[in-house]
Amino acid sequence: AAAVQAAIDAFARGEPVLIHDAADREGETDIVYPAGSVTPEAVARLRNDAGGLVCVALSDGVAEDLELPFMQDVLDHPTSADHELAYDERSSFSLTVNHRDTFTGITDDDRSLTITELAALAADPDPDGFGEAFRSPGHVHLLRAAPALLADREGHTELGVALAAAADQPPAVVVCEMLDDETGGALSPADARAYAADEGLHYVEGRAIVAALA
Ligand code: 5RP
Ligand code: CA
Ligand code: ZN
Repeated sequence: AAAVQAAIDAFARGEPVLIHDAADREGETDIVYPAGSVTPEAVARLRNDAGGLVCVALSDGVAEDLELPFMQDVLDHPTSADHELAYDERSSFSLTVNHRDTFTGITDDDRSLTITELAALAADPDPDGFGEAFRSPGHVHLLRAAPALLADREGHTELGVALAAAADQPPAVVVCEMLDDETGGALSPADARAYAADEGLHYVEGRAIVAALA
């Protein structure tokens, strides 16, 4: 579909796109960037205009190379014994990290550094370099995509990584949910489309990405 090709072209240029997963899943629209294109201004857009959790999704292959576990598998605590979700089989949460050259890790400069260095690592995964360059816990949430991407799972994690692959970008994307400042709930698709139009960005439905790329 034209919307998917426009999103791929935007991603190839390093621009963010808005992705709505599905009304019968989370029903959320995430702002999604190729991680290598993130700047401090982009982090400010995510926390001011999206407002959700800033995460970096990595492909299963990169996660394997970096020996990145799912968070649920490394927490030995009653809260993680049964991590049941209402909208999917499992969460894609992995560790949280900061680049070691950050100070607190939360500022726009710090998170931008962590995110762009993750993109560089995803382009050339080095297991030793990971622990040398990053510390955990940190202020950027890592997400681990399913091995077969959209054939396995249709979350923003897989939708974003699939878009990166189609755009010849490294398998590292930033995702952040758009919340509604009036209601506190998920921003509606109509309002997300209006934001995209105002900002000159592309909005795309998850099902269109699945149809084109799965
Ligand atoms: C992390 C999340 C978001 O929903 C993010 O979009 C990744 O999750 P998923 O792949 O399940 O959509 O929970 O803030
Ligand atoms: Ca979520
Ligand atoms: Zn999501």
